[in-house]
Formats: sequence, structure tokens, C-alpha cells
Amino acid sequence: MSSKTPVQRGRPEAEYVLGTDQTESDRLGLQHRLWSASAHLLWERARIGPGQLIVDVGCGPGHATIDLAEIAGPGGRVVAVDESPLFLKHLNDRVQGRHLSNVDRVLGDAQHLPELLPYIQGAVDLAYARWVLCFVPDPEAVVAGVAALLKPGGRFAVQDYFNYESMSLAPRREAFSRVIRAIGSSWRGRGGDPDIVSRLPGLFRKYGMEVEHLGVNQRIATPGSTIWHWPDTFWKSFVPRLEEQGQITKEERSAFERAWAEASADPDTFMQLPPVYDVVGVKA
Ligand SMILES: C[S@@+](CC[C@H](N)C(=O)[O-])C[C@H]1O[C@@H](n2cnc3c(N)ncnc32)[C@H](O)[C@@H]1O
Repeated sequence: MSSKTPVQRGRPEAEYVLGTDQTESDRLGLQHRLWSASAHLLWERARIGPGQLIVDVGCGPGHATIDLAEIAGPGGRVVAVDESPLFLKHLNDRVQGRHLSNVDRVLGDAQHLPELLPYIQGAVDLAYARWVLCFVPDPEAVVAGVAALLKPGGRFAVQDYFNYESMSLAPRREAFSRVIRAIGSSWRGRGGDPDIVSRLPGLFRKYGMEVEHLGVNQRIATPGSTIWHWPDTFWKSFVPRLEEQGQITKEERSAFERAWAEASADPDTFMQLPPVYDVVGVKA
């Protein structure tokens, strides 16, 4: 399969709750950079190495895909799956720019991996899914599909949320907390689960994967710190969507924007970011 021709199966017309426009694509690029140290650490725990066959499940515009492909090297291969044609186009631009020849793009639904990728069943060394399982209506189907693709001893590395709605500003601001509740409600309304990691140990066991590592990245942001840009860009991308979806009123959006601007100017504020969990499962 050429990296220029994405395979198309699944439900390409679907759009995930955060959207797939240019603003969201750019936000995912910044997000990758702010979280890439954690990603690389997790990949090392999952024993990534040259020559491996790797699947990036829900790859988005492919910032992690590129890193994975550079580690897999010319003797390895990364199969990058996403349901967004625009994100896969952005990935293709990046692949061409880097002159990489070991990336396959596959357009389709990650809830149907064995049907999408029948030619690599039982052959995959490493599957990676970051911030994808929390958005899909049937995460069990993704886990089952990954388990079918892995070879014995292959690993599934996940970075995702549990207790997402614990995200808070300190001192607390009600207009901020209101929007956090609305985000959780918006994701759940589309079949997502901001507590998804709580279900993963049981699902891994059910599909023959032993949990080898479970950890959490709990970060704190202060105004002016680099990681403050992470929530800041997320609000710009997603809070207008919350209003469009009817999850918050115009007044609640304005109150949130005021609260965030005040917090951003307060040197004594800090923010507890949503905890990002690391899970590595190994297939028996
Ligand atoms: C928050 S982004 C994360 C992207 C990437 N994993 C990263 O860490 O930068 C979620 C991605 O999951 C994709 N996605 C959501 N549901 C999907 C599904 N059912 N099948 C394939 N991709 C899906 C979206 O299109 C989006 O690219």
C-alpha cells in the first residue's frame, strides 16, 4: 500500500466531537509537542524499536505517527488509522516533507480494525492509541481489534483519561467548572467516556492482554508556563463548539472567557490539568 493512497473503509463521513478543521489540527500539533516526552517514555516502556510493525490508532494529523516511523526506521512500518480524511491529508504532507517511505495511511473506523487491516492480523509489535478511546462509542471493539492485530508478545500502549472532570482552577471559579461539566456531557452525548481508563484493565484481560504498566501523568499549569498553552488552545477550539451544541449558553461562554482571562492574569493561580493515564498491555 502506498503512503499516497489511503485505504478507505469504515465511516469516513463521521466527525469526532472536537472537530477536524485546521484549528483542531494545529491544536493537536501543539498538544503533541507538549506531551511528547510522556509519549516517548511510554513507547520505551512498551519496548518500541527499529524494524517493528506499529499501528497508530486514531492517528489524527500524525504528529506521533512521524516520531513512531522515525523510530521504526526503514526496516519497520507504521500503519496510521483515522476516520478523518483531512487529518490523513495533513499526515501525508508531513510524510512527504520528511521523505518517509514507511507510513501507510488508512481511512476508516478504528472500531473495525481487523476488517480494515486483515493483512496484518497477528503480526503487529506495537499499537498506540492516544486520546482516542475516550471518544469512540465502542472502546471494547477497539481493544478487541487491537488484540487481534497483535502478535504474541506484542504490546498495546494507551494514553487516555480517567477522572477528566477533576480538572480545576485554583482558586476555584464557578464559570470554569460549569464548562468542564459541559465538556464531559458533550463527550458522553456522542458516546464517548472521559473515564475510559477505568474500563481498560478489565477489557485488556478479556481480550488476552496482561496489564504490564499502569501510571498517571498529573500536571499542573501556571499562567505563563509552557503547558498553560495546552488548555488555552483547547478552549479556543472547543468552547465555541460547546455553545453551538447547546451545552452552554452565550452568557456562560462569556463568563467562562472572563474567568479564564482573569486566571491567566493572576500570578497566584494554578490549574490542575486532566490526569493522563499510561497503560501498557502485552498479548499472551
Ligand atoms: C484527540 S485526537 C488524537 C489524535 C492523535 N492520537 C494524537 O494523539 O495526536 C482524536 C482522534 O481520533 C480520531 N477518531 C475518533 N473516533 C475515531 C474512530 N471511530 N475511528 C478512527 N478515528 C477516530 C479523530 O479523527 C482524531 O483524529
